[in-house]
Amino acid sequence: MTQRTIPTIRLNNGVSIPQIGFGTMNLSAVRDNSPESHEVTAKGIAAAIAAGYRHFDTAQMYANEKGLGLAIARSGLPRNEFFLTTKLGNGNHRPDDVRRSFEQSLVDLGVEQLDLFLMHWPLPTLYGGDFVSTWRAITHLVDEGLLRAAGVSNFNPDHLQRIIDETGRVPVVNQIEVHPYFGNRPVFAACASHDIAIEAWSPLGQASVLADPTIADIARKHNRSTAEIVLRWHTQQGRIVIPKTATPARMEQNIGVFDFTLPPEDLAAIDSLNKGEAGRRGPNPETFAWIPTSSNPTPKINP
Ligand SMILES: NC(=O)c1ccc[n+]([C@@H]2O[C@H](COP(=O)([O-])OP(=O)(O)OC[C@H]3O[C@@H](n4cnc5c(N)ncnc54)[C@H](OP(=O)(O)O)[C@@H]3O)[C@@H](O)[C@H]2O)c1
Repeated sequence: MTQRTIPTIRLNNGVSIPQIGFGTMNLSAVRDNSPESHEVTAKGIAAAIAAGYRHFDTAQMYANEKGLGLAIARSGLPRNEFFLTTKLGNGNHRPDDVRRSFEQSLVDLGVEQLDLFLMHWPLPTLYGGDFVSTWRAITHLVDEGLLRAAGVSNFNPDHLQRIIDETGRVPVVNQIEVHPYFGNRPVFAACASHDIAIEAWSPLGQASVLADPTIADIARKHNRSTAEIVLRWHTQQGRIVIPKTATPARMEQNIGVFDFTLPPEDLAAIDSLNKGEAGRRGPNPETFAWIPTSSNPTPKINP
């Protein structure tokens, strides 16, 4: 098992999070909650643990929390070596459902306390537009000691401002889509003003940026892969990253990006690839209104 020293980011409530985590979405191609799918997930996670990952990102909607729990239990490592994030399912926004589904996540992950729980999507067009009581219910889990840190995901500046103004509770992170083709800059400014850490989801743009000629030139210069260059671009600018790969050699590559530095001109060249809204790969948080069902468990993120 590889031992690594991974930099940590201190969140605004004092909790430390490893700057790189392992994205677990779609490790198993189907979200059917079957023992077979959980074994596929557990096998992928076991490889990631062996490569040195201790921070894992899952979600109620990925239907893979049991697979992650299996891998953690089988690792034999103490619980406090891991940093575990899960996210509230879109069908669970009512305060009672926040509580019930969170308790189920603890059971499925096989833990008594969670490190980070995120509201996965604000869903401003559902639940009468009330994501504030959902947020309040999440913060109560921290007050009860069941949760170390509460955060959000896919929150635009106005969504952030509303929950902060109406509850006085500031999320520790906002997990948002960021990669070289989708800079998401307006959200950065809002997060910075409230000391909210940014976690980049799809940090490699779901592999779409890896053949970019500008990034390929920079990769040749540093004798690194394009994936390593992109992850270093993120981490050097203070973002937390959660790349997903099912490939053990890539797991090693992605976690080993903390031993080189990109000069300012390389960071700027990658910044300049931003296509704005045209570069977005996932849903738009203002309009995303999808709730999973057993017959339709996977969103069409890229129709
Ligand atoms: N909060 C949200 O709404 C939200 C939304 C989407 C995703 N997420 C989180 O973000 C995580 C990552 O996002 P993602 O999976 O969409 O995209 P991603 O991490 O940007 O890209 C994953 C793709 O890149 C490939 N890849 C990874 N490392 C590579 C390397 N070193 N060289 C070449 N190819 C490489 C993977 O291939 P192989 O697997 O075939 O190796 C896979 O096709 C998810 O797992 C999930 O935890 C959150």
